[in-house]
Amino acid sequence: MYKNSITIRRLLLRFPKGSDPLIIPNQPEESYLYIGLSLLLPYLEPYLVRSMLSAKTIIQDEGLVKDMEAFMGQESQHHKLHIQFNCSLDLSKYEGLKELEEKLAADYNRFSDTKSLRFNLAFAEGFEAFTLAMTRSSFQTGMFERIQSEARDLFRWHLMEEIEHRTVAFDVYQQISGAYFYRVCIGIFAQWHLCRFVFRVSRLMLRTEEKNCPKKFGGRWRSFQRQGYLLWLFVLYFFPKLLNTYMPWYSPYRIAMPEAALAMAKEFTERARSGAKLP
Ligand SMILES: [Fe+2]
Ligand SMILES: [Fe+2]
Repeated sequence: MYKNSITIRRLLLRFPKGSDPLIIPNQPEESYLYIGLSLLLPYLEPYLVRSMLSAKTIIQDEGLVKDMEAFMGQESQHHKLHIQFNCSLDLSKYEGLKELEEKLAADYNRFSDTKSLRFNLAFAEGFEAFTLAMTRSSFQTGMFERIQSEARDLFRWHLMEEIEHRTVAFDVYQQISGAYFYRVCIGIFAQWHLCRFVFRVSRLMLRTEEKNCPKKFGGRWRSFQRQGYLLWLFVLYFFPKLLNTYMPWYSPYRIAMPEAALAMAKEFTERARSGAKLP
């Protein structure tokens, strides 16, 4: 018996080779943050799956075990498609990205090899709480609708499924440990760790663009304005939802799937069943 309704969808998405990483026209700051996130996921999500596999040997609750399997199935599909997307991008001019990725991979391998299961599960829940807050705010602001077509469905599908499996890492952590302060502290560390990578990628890409063609996106003042707008969106929509996840009474069970997410879930289920590719 499943505790939740979590569907593993195997989507066929087409990413043209040599795609421009500027996935939102004239918005390099926002585009490169999403590229940073996409580069992170093929390292982070396998680490989440490793942590879940370790926990699965201990968890007795059959419903939760089924949810964990569905969670792992979804995360495995996510990073598989993000690898395809990342490989399709023309990132050759951005020197230093590979080194950042290698450091990130080493960190997650070290966490799996040397840290306790409690740490790895609190880390997983920190990431899941972060993506839940991000997904909920993106449904309010329509952030992901602005992405160009090839990448848009990847992000829409991924984030919708992040809401769908929002309770799993939380439930597993509660069963293995349940300690509130530990969850919040390691969760904040996990969020700092992922943001550090994403911002490093974005900064590296922006600096490369600025060096190659300083006026390409309107110069520094225009960039400052765009970053200010992004910060305003984050403060208004994202931070309050993230702060909520730090509260002692926080539970992802209190957060319902938005209507738009339910409609999206239906749409992607149909597409996965029919094996439909993007037009
Ligand atoms: Fe995911
Ligand atoms: Fe997830």
